[in-house]
Amino acid sequence: MAAPIKHILTAIATVCTIISLSTAHAADEPENIIKFRQNVMKGNGAHITNIAAVVKGQVTTTANLAADAQAIADGLENFGKLFPTGTEGGKTNALAKVWDDRAGFDKALADAQDAAENMIGAAASNDIATIGKALGALGKSCGGCHKPYRKKM
Ligand code: HEC
Repeated sequence: MAAPIKHILTAIATVCTIISLSTAHAADEPENIIKFRQNVMKGNGAHITNIAAVVKGQVTTTANLAADAQAIADGLENFGKLFPTGTEGGKTNALAKVWDDRAGFDKALADAQDAAENMIGAAASNDIATIGKALGALGKSCGGCHKPYRKKM
């Protein structure tokens, strides 16, 4: 066989192997989606805790506020897509009500997204009182979803 053709065939075989490898791992297993959404939320928890540390004066640098606020907004943006049917069981703290009252859940999510956007604006103000007020509203919006839609933790 001519060398160039052999190379082309080898390249094709490699591509086929990569494709079959990526499909061999079943994607979007419920347990993986559950872990994934919990990690998004862990991130939210870390970011809001850091904003609170600044508001309380435990940490004086305000350099991270914008990134923390943006990360919360980004995390919430696609959060609604992480609750497909099949992920209501297993190791989740989400209550069945997420699926039974999807409109209410989506509303709670939209409210939290508004509060996160508001926090981005507040962070840009660099005014601790403004940031504190936005933090209060943001925290309330987290609870506005956790209370009805998450197990007590
Ligand atoms: C629209 C609903 C909703 C909003 C808004 C929301 N959460 Fe959650 N959160 C959940 C659900 C549902 C779970 C449980 C997920 C699971 O176990 O599958 C959760 C879990 C968590 C967890 C625990 C993660 C873990 O398993 O270790 C933390 C921390 C958390 N949220 C923080 C926040 C913070 C901070 C905010 C606000 C910035 C927020 N959440 C906003 C619904 C929401």
